[in-house]
Amino acid sequence: MVDPEKHIFPDEDALADFALSVWEAAARASTGTGKFTVALSGGKTPVLLYRKLASRPDLPWRETIVFFADERLVPGDHPWSNFRLARETLLEKISLPPGNVHPAATGKGSPEAAAENYEIILRRHFGETGKTAPVFDLVLLGLGEDGHTASLFPGSRLLQEETRWAAAEVSPAITPPRITLTLPIINRAAGVLFLVSGRNKAEVLKRVVEDRDPALPASLVRPVSGRLIFAVDRYAAQCLRVHDRL
Ligand code: 6PG
Repeated sequence: MVDPEKHIFPDEDALADFALSVWEAAARASTGTGKFTVALSGGKTPVLLYRKLASRPDLPWRETIVFFADERLVPGDHPWSNFRLARETLLEKISLPPGNVHPAATGKGSPEAAAENYEIILRRHFGETGKTAPVFDLVLLGLGEDGHTASLFPGSRLLQEETRWAAAEVSPAITPPRITLTLPIINRAAGVLFLVSGRNKAEVLKRVVEDRDPALPASLVRPVSGRLIFAVDRYAAQCLRVHDRL
């Protein structure tokens, strides 16, 4: 596993500009292969990136295939829907063929059925790319104050998952149920980009980036051979070693 890269920015705007540059480089690098496959995260932090992406019609959108790192099991127009957020801030503002977007929850059936369905879609997509293993070109992730990422929560049985690529998180503590990509598929990515902002993330970010605390799901994101990038603002970076903050 490669060491995580750390990039610290003065504010959310600079953070989003950096994320945009990572996205653009990954998208352009994939151009020759005909497909740029990305997983979007939910949460508030990527919204500025999505808005910046929406003003870049020059990016190779026809080749861009969009999946979601996780989703709440709600209808696609629900305020809690990650798909809704991405649609309103990015997807409906660019020329992306509708077939290029794969929402994780359709609002029908059980959480387990929704996860199985998402896995079928993932396997079909990666089968068509001709790759023997699923390789996202880029996975965007956020970090929760409890160390969760995507919908992989501390103590969840999903952290032990070895074969499935998508799974349902169903627990009385987490409502509504969620669909999430699992560690085996996230860790096959060519690039994983965490976007973290705010003082409230400072302690947990240190435990993930420096201590690699295995109790925290975000610490278990360790791409086998891809890049692992933490892009954080200076508020979230407050507990990192001083030389990392300079
Ligand atoms: C979600 C994400 C979740 C998120 C983190 C950080 O849909 O909420 O799955 O993992 O990325 O909770 O969220 P913020 O960016 O809002 O801090």
